[in-house]
Amino acid sequence: MCGIVGYVGQSSHWESSATDGSPETGRNGQVPSGNEHDALDVVMEGLRRLEYRGYDSAGVAVISEGGIESRKKAGKLTNLVGELAADPLPRALTGIGHTRWATHGGPTDQNAHPHLADDGRLAVIHNGIIENYAELKAELTEQGLSFVSDTDTEVAAGYLGHLYRTLIDDGAEGDVLTQALQQACRRLEGAFTLLAIHEDQPGTVVAGRRNSPLVVGLGDGENFLGSDVSGFIDFTRRAVELGQDQIVTITPDDVVITDFLGAPAQGTEFHVDWDAAAAEKGGFDSFMEKEIHDQPDAVAQTLLGRSDTAGNLVLDELRIDESILRSVDKIVVLACGTSAYAGQVAKYAIEHWCRIPTEVELSHEFRYRDPIVNEKTLVVAISQSGETMDTLMAVRYAREQGAKVVAICNTNGSTIPRESDAVLYTHAGPEIAVASTKAFLAQITAAYLLGLYLAQLRGNKYRDEIAAVMDDLAEIPAKIQAILDDAEKIKALGTDMANAKSVLFLGRHVGFPVAMEGALKLKELAYIHAEGFAAGELKHGPIALIEEGQPVVVVMPSPHGRDSLHAKVVSNVQEIRARGAVTIVIAEEGDTSAEAYSEHVFYVPVSPALLAPLLTTVPLQIFALALAGAKGYDVDQPRNLAKSVTVE
Ligand code: F6R
Repeated sequence: MCGIVGYVGQSSHWESSATDGSPETGRNGQVPSGNEHDALDVVMEGLRRLEYRGYDSAGVAVISEGGIESRKKAGKLTNLVGELAADPLPRALTGIGHTRWATHGGPTDQNAHPHLADDGRLAVIHNGIIENYAELKAELTEQGLSFVSDTDTEVAAGYLGHLYRTLIDDGAEGDVLTQALQQACRRLEGAFTLLAIHEDQPGTVVAGRRNSPLVVGLGDGENFLGSDVSGFIDFTRRAVELGQDQIVTITPDDVVITDFLGAPAQGTEFHVDWDAAAAEKGGFDSFMEKEIHDQPDAVAQTLLGRSDTAGNLVLDELRIDESILRSVDKIVVLACGTSAYAGQVAKYAIEHWCRIPTEVELSHEFRYRDPIVNEKTLVVAISQSGETMDTLMAVRYAREQGAKVVAICNTNGSTIPRESDAVLYTHAGPEIAVASTKAFLAQITAAYLLGLYLAQLRGNKYRDEIAAVMDDLAEIPAKIQAILDDAEKIKALGTDMANAKSVLFLGRHVGFPVAMEGALKLKELAYIHAEGFAAGELKHGPIALIEEGQPVVVVMPSPHGRDSLHAKVVSNVQEIRARGAVTIVIAEEGDTSAEAYSEHVFYVPVSPALLAPLLTTVPLQIFALALAGAKGYDVDQPRNLAKSVTVE
């Protein structure tokens, strides 16, 4: 939620030259010597990569010889690009940039960041929500400050400006901007990453964080800040993750970290192993399409190196005492949205393999219902971004109650893994499209690994299944690829259904969360009513929705699966067809019975029932992508959404 970038480069040795159109030539015909970068170029590149975090407005500020200059514009980043072309900024070595997901105040030019204070000498950008902004605003207004936007950020900027001026008036020396931000952060409540630049300190960017993400990028004679590493991935692979309640001051040659009181603090350096190209579209029309096609690799990478040749699980990263894991008597999976559906799939697998009662709870509901969690509870927090505030708060609560927390996460250096007892990273690579696809399959894969590992550790009767399941999992990437290679028919159906007003999804057992995920993809991408039901629940009410022509997607269990689930879902399908439903069935290869009761059938390769979600989800993603594409919608940046939801 909101993307933030900061940059500071080395002292200027800019050479003037006429614009010759060469790629090395900077704006205004200036050529940076050596590896010098123009701050605006770095910041805009970072914003381009971070735009998935919010796209209601964007803005930048730089410090040039004339002082602070800023441009900002409502709408997507491209509007800001237009604004900068019409009204260019001068070259600079220090800059900050922001791409916004609106919280306080609508998406207008005025509410866009940066917000200026101290008579235009200070620029501030912010991700999060300042909860005590009203109280601060009242105080500052009383002291004569006025505000032009509806945002809490402008209040934070005003407050920082006020503290800065007071410190200067009191004769403070040294890095006054950092001192002022330390003071400000002590008073601010809520969640925030704040970045500030002041024209009195041209080679400095200062940032403070509480409950909101911020990563430092280490360069050679230049340093970077980003909401995540994609903010600077084009320039450096050396990154530092910051702890909670920390301030960082970057200058071209130095990175200084303190706590809010000014005491020295430490970050943790790590190497970014993402390929910058992995964050590009790679020839596909959208990031989402590319990420759907990344899925064989996402699953394969998540499996890689996590078992030995005998099929035993080797999860070295699970640094929780084995005796604790053996004594766990309950598992609680915490997550939101798509990640919560991954959790629901995990529940079926973990309960089957480990025989440990497993609950799945939406993170935002969890801590408000006085849940029963203690030292014998293992919490599994699933989050692609590792920054979802609802999940982070639930993790903190669970740990306070004595539970151990394992995070399943896709983003290195993010907050949830850092605040958990252990982390199992999914290796899906950067997921840029706002709607999650490859991260979902990677999360399910990681959850299977965790379940199998616990079963192995606890030595129960399903232990013997482990090697066989690992063999089955190893075959999944090729099976996903086969679905992708044969996707034209489902794409065509999605396109044909562009005018559908509502689509229902049915599933049972692990097909139920898949149905809900299919419906969520359609809601968020195509903005139409879509709902996922457990097929057995239909007759308890939802069947009243069925009328002539109602499209219903059915995730059919394998005919070779457990009990008589297949037969029962076939009966459910007959019931809705009798009432006029048009059925679109995702069936297992060889299940020829499906032709008899479906208007459209799409086959996926055979797999054990518990692993089927890794296959049956894929046609539903392609269907939603095609349908939304046919409606002309931006599938990478659906309206009202943001990739990383860092507010509660
Ligand atoms: C939907 C989607 C969201 C996320 C949810 C949790 O396509 O992406 O529902 O799954 O916001 O996000 P993470 O996994 O980052 O915690």
